[in-house]
Amino acid sequence: WKIPPIVQELAAGVQEPPSRYVVREKDRPTVAGVPMPEPIPVVDLSRLSAPSDDHSADEAAKLRSALQNWGLFLAVGHGIEPDLLTEMMKVTREFYSLPLEEKQKYSNLVNGKEFRVEGYGNDMVIAEDQTLDWCDRFYLIVEPVSQKIHSLWPTQPPSFSDVLREYTVRCREIAEPVLANMAKLVGLHEGYFVGMLEEATTYARFNYYPRCPRPGHVFGLKPHSDGSMITVVSIDDAVSGLQVQGDGGVWYDVPIVPNALVVNVGDTAEILSNGFFKSPVHRVVTNTERERVSLGMFYSLDPETEIEPAPELVDEQRPRRYGKMKAKDYLAELFEKFARGGRAIDTVK
Ligand code: SIN
Ligand code: FE2
Repeated sequence: WKIPPIVQELAAGVQEPPSRYVVREKDRPTVAGVPMPEPIPVVDLSRLSAPSDDHSADEAAKLRSALQNWGLFLAVGHGIEPDLLTEMMKVTREFYSLPLEEKQKYSNLVNGKEFRVEGYGNDMVIAEDQTLDWCDRFYLIVEPVSQKIHSLWPTQPPSFSDVLREYTVRCREIAEPVLANMAKLVGLHEGYFVGMLEEATTYARFNYYPRCPRPGHVFGLKPHSDGSMITVVSIDDAVSGLQVQGDGGVWYDVPIVPNALVVNVGDTAEILSNGFFKSPVHRVVTNTERERVSLGMFYSLDPETEIEPAPELVDEQRPRRYGKMKAKDYLAELFEKFARGGRAIDTVK
């Protein structure tokens, strides 16, 4: 099959999305999802972490209900200054504003044809009849330093790398307390998940969703769940579009809360917790008015690690729900599944 075009280039010249992007009628998205019922899942991380704070138990209860009801929450009180968030989003937008030839220096195609995750371009195409998403993306491994592919770090805009390095450090300061609290919720010791991530891989995924003349006919991103332990997402300039599937298959809009970050559970946490946490199915819809930029940080296990339920969480009442699989093999399955849409975790167990 032909390597698809960069959507940003395509979108600039078409009145209608080409057929490869058009979703089958029965699967098309409702662009305005259902509003989430109050109270929306917001967790104040500054309260969660405060030791012996009276509020920390309340906040832990909010975290528990957010994760059980939605598999995600909006994190406030996370400690990243609004200026750094703004700057991170600004350099992301600037990267996407570069001329195509400049961005192609960081292409995710090896020798112009073999797909790899890291780099700039399209998501993996596995079949001619695959519906393509209205999105360009750029992946970088940001942690650990030993896994970084330095040649893929953009030199333009000039501050991109410094801002991303700073953001990476600050984002981990969010991920770790969340994971410590998640471990406590299932009765594991605080360091259980955090310890597994110490030398593990963090991917940054920069998304660019151009304006679309027919938002009701395409997906910005098809329904999927993430393969990570958890994902932390920053969304630029209050452009909504992220939707999460709730009970009964209803699609809810994830509300925009200024300067909040979206934190969602990934498949790895679902497996390690033996199903206590559920990784939510989510998708992105486009709009006619404004391009949308977002950045997801995917906290993932080292590729050689085995993913399997924590032995402490398997007993007669709660039989083991998932098999054992190397993180890298899981990711390979996930990218196949991602191309079609759906939850990889339902096909591999
Ligand atoms: C995603 O990572 O699934 C999409 C995040 C977003 O663009 O809101
Ligand atoms: Fe996702």
